[in-house]
Amino acid sequence: ERLQTLTFDSAQEGSIEIAREIADLIRDKAEKGEKAVLGLATGSSPLKVYDELIRMHKEDGLSFKNVVTFNLDEYYPMQPESVHSYVRFMKENLFDHIDIDMKNVHIPDGTLDIKDIYAFCAEYEQKIKAAGGLDIQILGIGRTGHIGFNEPGSTETSRTRLVTLDALTRKDAAAGFGGLDNVPRRAITMGVGIIMKARRIVMMAWGSGKAQIVGRMTEGEISDKVPATFLQKHENVTVFLDEPASQEL
Ligand code: GLP
Repeated sequence: ERLQTLTFDSAQEGSIEIAREIADLIRDKAEKGEKAVLGLATGSSPLKVYDELIRMHKEDGLSFKNVVTFNLDEYYPMQPESVHSYVRFMKENLFDHIDIDMKNVHIPDGTLDIKDIYAFCAEYEQKIKAAGGLDIQILGIGRTGHIGFNEPGSTETSRTRLVTLDALTRKDAAAGFGGLDNVPRRAITMGVGIIMKARRIVMMAWGSGKAQIVGRMTEGEISDKVPATFLQKHENVTVFLDEPASQEL
C-alpha cells in the first residue's frame, strides 16, 4: 500500500489547489442547501491554504455561512486568549477574515477541569457525527509522524482524548513558546479513529524538514510507531508536497 502523492513547484501552488478543492466542496454543498463539514489543522503547513480561502472570500465572494468546522487539537492546559492557543491561531489566520458563524466553529477546550475532559471528548466526537461526519479533513504532519497530536503509540482506533506530547514535538514547538519549559506537556486531540472516518483527507507537507517523515508515512510499514502511516488504509487521501518535502520518495 502506498499513498497517492502530488508534488508541486511550491507550497503556494499546492496550497491554492487545496483551497480550490475546499471552495468547490463549500459551493456544492451550498447549492444543495447543505452544510460543508471541515476538519481543520493548525501549524505552519495550512497557512497558505487559509490565506487563499480568505482571498477567495474577499475577491470571489466565497461564503462560509454554510460551513461547520472542527479543529484537530489544542494544547492543555491553554487559555483561548493566549498567543499560543489554537483558538487564537484560527481566529487570526482564518475565522476573523471570513463570514463564518462562530457558533459553527469547534475547537477542543484547553480550559477544562481535568475530570471533565473525557466527557468533553466523547461529546466532541458526537458533534462531528451529528453534523454528518467530516466531508474533508486537512492535516499536517509532525516530525514524530503525528497527525493532530496523535503521537507514536496512538492506535488506529484511538479516540479523541488527552495525550502527552512527544519530546520532539515539544522541542519543535519551543521557539514559538520562547523556550522548551513553556511548552505544555499535554494536549487534547481528535483520535486517529475519527480522522480516518473523514470522507476525504488532504495531507500537506512543505520543506525539506518533512522529507524523511513523508517517506516513512507514504512507503513505510503501517504501524502505530508512525501514526500517519494509518492513512495508507484510507481510500480517499492525497498527500500534497513541494519538491523539498518529496525528496525521499
Ligand atoms: C503541530 C500540530 C499538528 C501539525 C504539526 C506540524 O504541533 N498539532 O496538527 O500538523 O504539528 O506543524 P507544522 O505544520 O508547523 O509543521
